[in-house]
Amino acid sequence: MRQCVERTAPHGRVLLINNSGIGAFGAFSGRDAERQLAMIDVNVRALVQLTGLLLPLLRARGGAIMNVASTVAFQPTPFAATYGATKAFVLHWTIALDHELRGSGVRALAVCPGTTRTEFFQSAGLAPGTVAARGSMSSDEVVEAAFRALAAGRSQVVPGWLNKAYTFAASKLPKSVAAGLAARVLRRRRSDGAGA
Ligand SMILES: NC(=O)c1ccc[n+]([C@@H]2O[C@H](COP(=O)([O-])OP(=O)(O)OC[C@H]3O[C@@H](n4cnc5c(N)ncnc54)[C@H](OP(=O)(O)O)[C@@H]3O)[C@@H](O)[C@H]2O)c1
Repeated sequence: MRQCVERTAPHGRVLLINNSGIGAFGAFSGRDAERQLAMIDVNVRALVQLTGLLLPLLRARGGAIMNVASTVAFQPTPFAATYGATKAFVLHWTIALDHELRGSGVRALAVCPGTTRTEFFQSAGLAPGTVAARGSMSSDEVVEAAFRALAAGRSQVVPGWLNKAYTFAASKLPKSVAAGLAARVLRRRRSDGAGA
């Protein structure tokens, strides 16, 4: 990948956006272990690997790393336990990396969108309409918030005031209380068809 970037863009700063991600909803049973492991591979392993591969080039030219986490990164997420944990990893890892990179000319930003109107929920196996569009954002709105945060030199951004309020509350509550509240919402998003 590094050779590919050098061939096609021999000069200038580098922006790496780790956006790829998959989700799955439902209680962890072990039956869908392959899907859970694939989620860890795409959401965590690939992000770390790609960042590591491009870091020498980023350090040489300057630039930024934008990693897409989620509002679910702020509390344990029953019925999306693995997905939420992968996004908690992305959030904390990115902020830690940003600190390590201070003074290097490279920055790292964790983007934490809430529900966004994309193919994500269908890809996760949910029927259209399972997730309420009310309060959701468009991809364009999320991208604009992300680039504003990058320009402002921030290491974390939660796009949208509703998502900001939600994540602020979730991060202040005891983890088991926050998990209980998340369970009430996520129980309805089970992709095994058994949701309330
Ligand atoms: N939509 C939401 O409500 C929401 C909320 C919070 C966070 N997010 C995060 O936002 C990011 C983008 O998701 P999205 O909403 O745009 O969903 P999406 O429309 O389903 O897009 C998912 C992206 O991940 C890529 N991808 C999936 N599996 C892959 C694999 N095995 N290898 C490489 N790439 C793979 C897809 O590539 P192809 O198109 O080539 O398959 C696609 O670009 C994800 O990290 C997701 O967790 C989404």
